[in-house]
Amino acid sequence: MDTSLPIDVRCFHMKMLNQPVLWRKSDLCVIVYFKEDKKKKLPPSLLVGGFHTRLNKNIIFLSMAIRTILEFPDPVLRQQAQAITVFDEGLMELVKDMTETMYDAPGIGLAAPQIGESIQLIVVDVAKIEKEQKVLAMINPRLIGYEGTQVDEEGCLSVIELTANVKRYKKVTVSYQNLSGDPRELTAEDRFAVVLQHEIDHLHGILFLDHLSALKRTLYKKKVQKMLAEKKK
Ligand code: NI
Repeated sequence: MDTSLPIDVRCFHMKMLNQPVLWRKSDLCVIVYFKEDKKKKLPPSLLVGGFHTRLNKNIIFLSMAIRTILEFPDPVLRQQAQAITVFDEGLMELVKDMTETMYDAPGIGLAAPQIGESIQLIVVDVAKIEKEQKVLAMINPRLIGYEGTQVDEEGCLSVIELTANVKRYKKVTVSYQNLSGDPRELTAEDRFAVVLQHEIDHLHGILFLDHLSALKRTLYKKKVQKMLAEKKK
């Protein structure tokens, strides 16, 4: 098993074997990610594979990098996420998976409960804010300071086909731990502050639609019920 293959972020969807798959091209290989197929219940070991051009052979990865994003009304999205106390390889792997899943979606932030891991971990895209580091993984993040308000449009990878204006704090300070478990603090404003508040909400079972009016929430719930009913047909 070779898991150290270079992967670039260019990707495009196509149909193959009647399964949704994702191709990724790099200098060395074409990697095919078989997206999780809930209906066929494929084992994870069959979910990721590809053809390695230098080794001239097919390869199968035993771990899946792009994870399925849970959608409302999945109950995991409503749970209070557990605090993280162990900072090990497994956590590092999860951060990698979340990063790939976020860019694949594409999104600018992702919380662990969105991929079914009810733990206090978020990843946020900070490419526009910090030039060196592109993705920031924040463990056990907590809002410790805030000021002002702003209204900005939000969407969520777990709340499909809905965007709406949400009122948030304009500036926030967040305490968190990095991948080594060291305590850190960060102050953010404007759009980045919105992303942080949105993702931290996920760790407490709160979705952005909870910030909307009761009427808008009800309308959306009805829309989802209708979509789910149509899927079953
Ligand atoms: Ni979200």
